[in-house]
Amino acid sequence: MKELRDKVAIVTGASRGLGPYVARALAAEGMRLVVAARSADQLDGVAARLRENGAEAIAVATDVTDSEALERMLATANESFGPADLLVNNAGTVTLCPFGQIGITDIERVVRLNLVSAMILTRLVLPGMLERRRGHVVNMSSLAGIFGPPYDAVYGATKAALVGFTESLRDECRASGVSASVICPSFVEEAGIYHEGRKYRVGKASRIVGTTTPDAVARAVLRAVRHDIPQINVNSMPIRPMAAVARLSPGLARWALRKVDAWRPFRQGAEANLRMGGKLTGLTESPG
Ligand SMILES: NC(=O)c1ccc[n+]([C@@H]2O[C@H](COP(=O)([O-])OP(=O)(O)OC[C@H]3O[C@@H](n4cnc5c(N)ncnc54)[C@H](OP(=O)(O)O)[C@@H]3O)[C@@H](O)[C@H]2O)c1
Repeated sequence: MKELRDKVAIVTGASRGLGPYVARALAAEGMRLVVAARSADQLDGVAARLRENGAEAIAVATDVTDSEALERMLATANESFGPADLLVNNAGTVTLCPFGQIGITDIERVVRLNLVSAMILTRLVLPGMLERRRGHVVNMSSLAGIFGPPYDAVYGATKAALVGFTESLRDECRASGVSASVICPSFVEEAGIYHEGRKYRVGKASRIVGTTTPDAVARAVLRAVRHDIPQINVNSMPIRPMAAVARLSPGLARWALRKVDAWRPFRQGAEANLRMGGKLTGLTESPG
């Protein structure tokens, strides 16, 4: 979608972390923004700041795991601005818990939040996009969607599934005017889950894996939509060739990642989370 001005964008998970950066970057291109998340006050603040900067924006407090709430959010978006041209499925969370200790309800909750809600929201907007022969869906995956991280298996699985989901959707919609992209950021500094985790003795990501910034992620979203790019891995150069190696030789790639202690932030995050009874990542059941 080359021309973004006056088009309608929905960004989920826009109350804090990376979402507000993505919303701001889209608003700067003249898009009309619908921001969604559960925390109404924070979300209202995000929408208010977008409007202060000259954008048209509304906040719709929504729990994306509730399908009826998704339908209500879309109805409000439709009444205010019209149907969505761009959907950014950004809402998501980590578990940071050894898999043998995670509660069943937390597995279900995180799969629902990270994966199922993105599928349902896409399913709800897609027919309209196809009818209008215009639209783009961006799914926020992660480096963890390319290399499954230990100590966060549920997260890694949902993020890998988002890569597969995007690939399927993209080819299925080919030549329809509708497309899809997936963004895979590495550890993001300055805002978001990893940045918050650093306050709880979670060490810096290894130099090989590298870090990125919320602005770089937001620019990647913009670039993916403008140039219809299937997948953008937003991370430092050293890890990039590893994705290619992993396709040819998964065992070699995993060995190299272990050698550079690539999973340190996940391991230390899980240790911190266990010390806190799961509260660091909002686990509803104490890890047992
Ligand atoms: N930060 C990183 O290093 C990093 C790296 C790679 C990928 N990512 C991905 O980027 C996305 C954003 O991550 P982040 O770091 O910005 O996380 P974050 O700071 O924890 O923010 C998560 C956002 O999702 C929303 N959310 C959570 N549960 C929700 C629900 N049930 N319904 C609606 N919204 C919900 C939160 O708002 P409420 O709590 O108000 O609902 C918040 O706006 C995620 O998909 C994550 O996997 C992040």
